Amino acid sequence: MADNDSRTEGARFSPSVAARPQPYTLKGSAGLDWGMQSRLARVFRPATNRTVMLAIDHGYFQGPTTGLERVDLSIVPLLGHADALMTTRGIVRSTIPPASGTPIVLRASGGPSILRELSDERIAVAMEDAARLNAAAVAVQVFVGGEFETQSVHNMTRLVDESQRYGIPVLAVTAVGKELTRDARYLRLATRICAELGAHVVKTYYCAEDFDTVAAACPVPLVMAGGKKLPELDALTMAYRAIEEGAAGVDMGRNIFQSENPAAMIRAIGAVVHESAKPQAAYDRFFGRPAGGT
Ligand code: R5P
Repeated sequence: MADNDSRTEGARFSPSVAARPQPYTLKGSAGLDWGMQSRLARVFRPATNRTVMLAIDHGYFQGPTTGLERVDLSIVPLLGHADALMTTRGIVRSTIPPASGTPIVLRASGGPSILRELSDERIAVAMEDAARLNAAAVAVQVFVGGEFETQSVHNMTRLVDESQRYGIPVLAVTAVGKELTRDARYLRLATRICAELGAHVVKTYYCAEDFDTVAAACPVPLVMAGGKKLPELDALTMAYRAIEEGAAGVDMGRNIFQSENPAAMIRAIGAVVHESAKPQAAYDRFFGRPAGGT
């Protein structure tokens, strides 16, 4: 126990040295509360302000999709390569080792399955439970232009209100329905609505033309969803372009866990995101041969 015997007057006050402010530099996040910034800093590596988020939440409406039949076998070995894991509370509690330390971005909306109208979602997790799970963020689907557009936007704004109380950021996922075009005009609309209404991070798809305008018009970090499985080099190229054009990282699922070599793929994506490695170089480095080679 400390006592007064060894107590001396301190000499390290450095009164001539001004206090050193260390502002949080993640896009649009400088004004957030400390807990919010601390959680975002777990998801976005402070050295790059970018993230490689591994999305495995597909089961919440698709069931055991290809690559996610056994999360314990296919995903748990990848955790060390992911900056964050986007998943459901059922998978977290049943399958994800707490000691892995991988920050969890918790799926917090749901309701309809692939057999019904997907935009008819509700909030599916209480923020108190997200806090209990030590979630680094919660994720909610927003269906701009969808049949239940207003309801899904309202799901997001209610979560944002709760997130401000708990200091847990909200990731808004812009869902593209079957009939909506993934062009820059639509993506600017959807992402900006999410950010304007309070989302701390927005996830959207890549578009080949003018993605830079989508990223520029979104005042908070934008992360790129992967979409359907592509050849590995094409997926790396898409991630590379998204980063070059302003994305703060990726939140990819199928292009990682459905890869012929998921561990190599997530490491290659990591090199593209955090080191700005060229797609071909990242492929060669982690797959051990040129793309298309034998
Ligand atoms: C879809 O609703 C989920 O939010 C997925 O996390 C998202 O689509 C990203 O996964 P993928 O890269 O497979 O598209």
